[in-house]
Amino acid sequence: MTSAQPSYRLPPGPEEPVALGIDPETLTTLTRLQRDYGDMVSMHRPNGRLAYFINDPVEVHRILARRHTRYRKGPGFERVKMLLGNGLIVSDGDVWRRSRRMIQPAFGRQNIHRLVDVMVECSQRRDRHWSRLAANGEQCNITSETSDFALELILISIFGKDYDDRIITDGENPFAFLSRDSARDLSVVLRVRHLRELLTSIIEDRKSGKHAESFDFLSVYLSAVDKHGKGFSRGELLDELMTLIVAGFETSANTLNWVWYLIASYPDIEARIIAEAERFLPDAESVNSESLMAMEYTQQVLEETLRLYPPVWLFTRRAHEDDELADYDVPQGTDIYLSPFILQRSEHYWPDPDCFDPERFAASDGNKKDRPYFPFSLGPRRCVGEYFSFMEMKVHLGLLLPRFRMLRVDDSRPELELGINLRSANDIFMKPVRR
Ligand code: HEM
Repeated sequence: MTSAQPSYRLPPGPEEPVALGIDPETLTTLTRLQRDYGDMVSMHRPNGRLAYFINDPVEVHRILARRHTRYRKGPGFERVKMLLGNGLIVSDGDVWRRSRRMIQPAFGRQNIHRLVDVMVECSQRRDRHWSRLAANGEQCNITSETSDFALELILISIFGKDYDDRIITDGENPFAFLSRDSARDLSVVLRVRHLRELLTSIIEDRKSGKHAESFDFLSVYLSAVDKHGKGFSRGELLDELMTLIVAGFETSANTLNWVWYLIASYPDIEARIIAEAERFLPDAESVNSESLMAMEYTQQVLEETLRLYPPVWLFTRRAHEDDELADYDVPQGTDIYLSPFILQRSEHYWPDPDCFDPERFAASDGNKKDRPYFPFSLGPRRCVGEYFSFMEMKVHLGLLLPRFRMLRVDDSRPELELGINLRSANDIFMKPVRR
């Protein structure tokens, strides 16, 4: 446990201990601390540990990028560990560096382009379902639809044909509870154990050559080797696969959930996305890397959605060694809190910050690079799935929005659920109408 020495230069902050978690109260607390003390705040947590809240973009960049080796993952990651073991998101130091080097090639653009057909197939599955709902005049739970889309997509991207043959049994997806159950408690741990058994048997069959697989993440992970020519052990592979599933679907699903909600209130923005989709994706056959790259306005809409609703709304780190930020010392062991949600809605950098305006991300806006924006983090630990997620979200919107108008069924504003991921507190329902 670290207790600050009198000789340390600490930023201003409250005298009394401050409770911090990954919850709505913490957002209120951090917003208040920034208002009262400025962009760098020091405090003590009830356990005595020193903590900083950093809201200065230059220092945020220093922590996440330039000095990232001095910091490790921070409070809250113990809970994620229960689910993901020591996979890429939670590992640190040499273990992380080795895994990241082995995994990075799987996310090269060429590999992701080979998965575009899967993105199209998963969008078409939604199309069929929404057509039935529209024909019957039924409502659509857009929160669970976007979640099912993203979960199915990541599972097929990882397991290829094994998804339909081995994972879906009696029409049930055994991974579906991951999107419904936000509690990372003991029952989740038991269910995760079952999933790991299922994955082990799929891996063993793959290794024994029972399946001739064309391309999927599992085949790339199975052939990945470190600089000594050594592959992942079975335990490491399971941790990395669970990490990929959890990291790879909830974030994109939440973003799509918010996009559908936002677009329904902005007909001009909706019309521009449709016009772009009709130009570049007139049918499913025309979906490819070039046509998706050309969809610049849709990209702006997604970036603006991620500004307002960054799925990872709070990052935590712990200083692994002494550091200095601005004019202050950071003693080893200090907990660090950074929030894209707060910085990306700061009036100081983003005029009229609560307004949804994709023009902020237009190529012609020369100031956009100077504004704090890090929904995918920054530096060497930046999200490995960023390109994949933009591709999947563009395919989803580009194929579905021109075919369905989603009508809001009420005027209520969804409350925020501020857990490890930022979600809508309640499912969002909409009424699909065929155009
Ligand atoms: C809108 C979509 C997404 C957002 C906003 C997002 C955001 C993030 C953020 C903020 C981090 C860093 C967390 C931290 O350092 O504390 C991260 C890491 C990661 N993400 Fe994503 N992510 C998205 C989609 C995806 C997808 C689709 C995949 C996989 C297919 C993925 C895989 C990963 C992995 C493996 C890491 C760990 C990287 C490392 O530590 O080296 N993410 N993501």
